[in-house]
Amino acid sequence: MVEKYIFGSPFETEAVTACMEAVGFAGKVICGEISLEDGFCYSYQMDDADVIYGLGEANRGINKRGYKYVSNCTDDPNHTEDKISLYGAHNFLIISGKRQVGLFFDYPANMCFDIGYTRQDMLTVRCERADLYLYVITGESAYDVAKQFRKIIGKSYIAPKYAFGFGQSRWGYKTAEDIETVVKRYRDNQIPIDMVYLDIDYMQDYKDFTVNAERFPDFPQFVQKMKAEKIHLIPIIDAGVKIEDGYDIYEEGVEKGYFCKREDDSDFVAAVWPGWTHFPDMLNPDARAWFGGKYERLTSLGIDGFWNDMNEPSIFYSEEGIKALNQAIADYVKDTESDGDVMDNANTVPGEVRWLMEQLQNNPEDYRRFYHNINGKKVRHDYVHNLYGFNMTRAAGEALQKIAPDRKMLLFSRSSYIGMHRYGGIWTGDNQSWWSHILLNLKMMPSLNMCGFLYTGADLGGFGSNTTRDLVLRWLALGVFTPLMRNHTAIGTREQECYQFEHIEDFRHVVGVRYRLIPYLYSAYIKAAENDDLYFRPLGFDYPDDRRAVETEDQLMLGNEAMIAPVYTQNVSGRTVYLPEEMKFVKFMPDGSIYEETLSQGTHYVEIKLNEVPLFIRKGKCIPVVDAAENVDAIDLSTVRYLGYDGAAYEIVE
Ligand code: GLC
Repeated sequence: MVEKYIFGSPFETEAVTACMEAVGFAGKVICGEISLEDGFCYSYQMDDADVIYGLGEANRGINKRGYKYVSNCTDDPNHTEDKISLYGAHNFLIISGKRQVGLFFDYPANMCFDIGYTRQDMLTVRCERADLYLYVITGESAYDVAKQFRKIIGKSYIAPKYAFGFGQSRWGYKTAEDIETVVKRYRDNQIPIDMVYLDIDYMQDYKDFTVNAERFPDFPQFVQKMKAEKIHLIPIIDAGVKIEDGYDIYEEGVEKGYFCKREDDSDFVAAVWPGWTHFPDMLNPDARAWFGGKYERLTSLGIDGFWNDMNEPSIFYSEEGIKALNQAIADYVKDTESDGDVMDNANTVPGEVRWLMEQLQNNPEDYRRFYHNINGKKVRHDYVHNLYGFNMTRAAGEALQKIAPDRKMLLFSRSSYIGMHRYGGIWTGDNQSWWSHILLNLKMMPSLNMCGFLYTGADLGGFGSNTTRDLVLRWLALGVFTPLMRNHTAIGTREQECYQFEHIEDFRHVVGVRYRLIPYLYSAYIKAAENDDLYFRPLGFDYPDDRRAVETEDQLMLGNEAMIAPVYTQNVSGRTVYLPEEMKFVKFMPDGSIYEETLSQGTHYVEIKLNEVPLFIRKGKCIPVVDAAENVDAIDLSTVRYLGYDGAAYEIVE
């Protein structure tokens, strides 16, 4: 059962698609208490056994207890354990214990979820203004609650099948030659691949929807050439539009009034990769349609996939921030009668100047400095901050549907809010080449699925920091199962394409396993999308009465047939795995054979070498497996055979 409560005058986020009558709250007890004295505060005293699921893209565990999280879409590339905000805002959680209750706080500004941080047994959810919708879902189990929630937020975006292939990316590929080298080395080494990503350097001076003509002398022809080699090029699109005379998108946006404005109606100016930019007003339907229409410039050249970035929106610094910094420096120079440049000597930079420098990026002040025009109403950005990335991707999604109604396109975003799952997927942003981030990747997946985001994945191998061969291999063995399987890394880091390491055959094999499983994985994905179901689930969703399963946070259920348990620690030859019931332990061996062993319910230590991919098949189930292929189109379904329990049936869908 789903109930909808209204508090104050909520902003219509369009997260929920189901039409439901909202009822006033009138002091009712909703599995907890609500206070409206100082903004909005929901509080609930947790039982020892309560598990709190949800929050989508958030730090820490599958069970969110024991920390606090703030929904405030933020570009922060350093995802250490203490971080409370990442790129997305997914305000849905499930209390699972004696009761099974889902809560969706539909509120697009900062919201704090204190889940046993201040007091270990208290869950509180707070926001500054009591203007929101609260959806309360009661069900038989956490799984049932999640599925009911999925029903009211609309169907998840479905990616094209090619997007289940493997993709290679690196911030630093600059020219057509760079891309061709990547493709050649993958093909020469017979490592399967379907996509190569174009990061910001393909653009002319980081201008959206432009292509650098020196680096790509004949881009349309290059796209076709890649297509002939079965490679989809996936360009990045950034939120900020470069301010540059003669750049038509900038000029049009200014003329039509489609950029976010300051209070005095001048266009707000912020620095991102291109230098000074304006932000298209993605919350203004006309501006959204206008910006979305620009994707056609690339689709008309044969491009059929995009990744939308910097759309929190990320702000490196604003004009106002720089002015304040300049002033502080000038004051300092005047006060100390110093004639030297304080910037030359870090030791002389006084506290205030240094503080201002540190505050330049993603400064909350800046997010209060600009406004949206939403159907004629001026809305200050910080009131709706968490909707920006959602609406940038919606701009693209709506436009792509018009441009090619019969064709699925790949689309995913960095920033998101619930509702965006109808238009595209997400990647989990700038992680690091750390072992702990394999586990973080795994833990985010089911939480994201609960919020509708099915096409998701992390930067495999790690984005920041230098990776190692074993880390890439182990991470790929998790990535084999995530819908988005992309190796991506930052400029200046160690090269981490699969062919950069010794014994390339191990990489060929691990990526090849992905292709052997695509008929299964894509089917599981389509079934989850069509039935408002989850592709990845915590074990507790399937085995709620088995406490050991509920507390297992390093394994996931996949589809209705499988369980994954990747290795995420260095220098080990296997791991301990908990089986809530008898299962078939399957290992894809480097010689192409498949090892199968039936394991009983309970705990097992299983050996998994660096070049083996483990998978577990549930009792009574089977999954299809085909021969490896060099790309998705080359998958030969006639090679299908079934792994798992004899007599089980499986239906492949596309
Ligand atoms: C951001 C993105 C990253 C990309 C980089 C350059 O940091 O998260 O994936 O490579 O910008 O565009």
